[in-house]
Amino acid sequence: VTEPDLKGRHVVVSAGGTREPLDPVRFLGNRSSGKQGYALARTAAARGARVTLVSANTGLPEPAGVDVVPVGTAVQLREAILKAASDADVVVMAAAVADFRPATYAAGKIKKKDGEDPEPIVLVRNPDILAEISTDRARPGQVIVGFAAETDDVLANGRKKLERKGCDLLVVNEVGERKTFGSEENEAVVLGADGSETPVPHGPKEALAETVWDLVARRLG
Ligand code: PMT
Repeated sequence: VTEPDLKGRHVVVSAGGTREPLDPVRFLGNRSSGKQGYALARTAAARGARVTLVSANTGLPEPAGVDVVPVGTAVQLREAILKAASDADVVVMAAAVADFRPATYAAGKIKKKDGEDPEPIVLVRNPDILAEISTDRARPGQVIVGFAAETDDVLANGRKKLERKGCDLLVVNEVGERKTFGSEENEAVVLGADGSETPVPHGPKEALAETVWDLVARRLG
């Protein structure tokens, strides 16, 4: 039996991967399926929370009893998160957000020209949503959780990222072409701003989600 320990709480979860368009046909994207974020949304709803799920390009079925806000790009995801976070008790950023986007958008499909080299793709920085909502908290006592997708020096990079972003908890997971992305399982260490480290062994993405909510519920008091 699941304890309704998030009853009366509004939690916001982001899931999936942003797509940054180059033209009407192409985009720069990443391998996130959205499964980890959806597992967080489902388990929070089961624990009694009102859940807003900001979902970027997942194609997953909408979880029952969850308010889904679909978005495409990092800029759209930021807008949706800022709006939902204004009255939220918790924000969990499980989405893989593009750090950069193409500087220009071509209104028509970019064509290859015979004998000419391709144009380089120029990128500009996207806003860092997690850092922004951690620095400018919408409500006192709001708990903010980030994820860190790392391929090497996983824990050391995670610690640095936690400090840089300023969130309360950071879920550090290792990723690769066939690791974590799209799979039903995950394994992670949850780092706390208080110096705590909670290892979560390899298992279903729901199990990691439940550990995140345990740690969040403790912080909500
Ligand atoms: O979707 P799945 O296939 O189930 O895979 C799950 C996952 C690997 C995508 C997920 O567990 C995960 O790690 N999500 C975060 C991916 C990511 O973008 O990590 P990052 O280390 O690049 O970013 C760190 C944190 O900052 C993240 O919480 C991210 O949402 C946030 N961020 C990043 C860039 C940006 N411009 N704004 C942000 O808010």
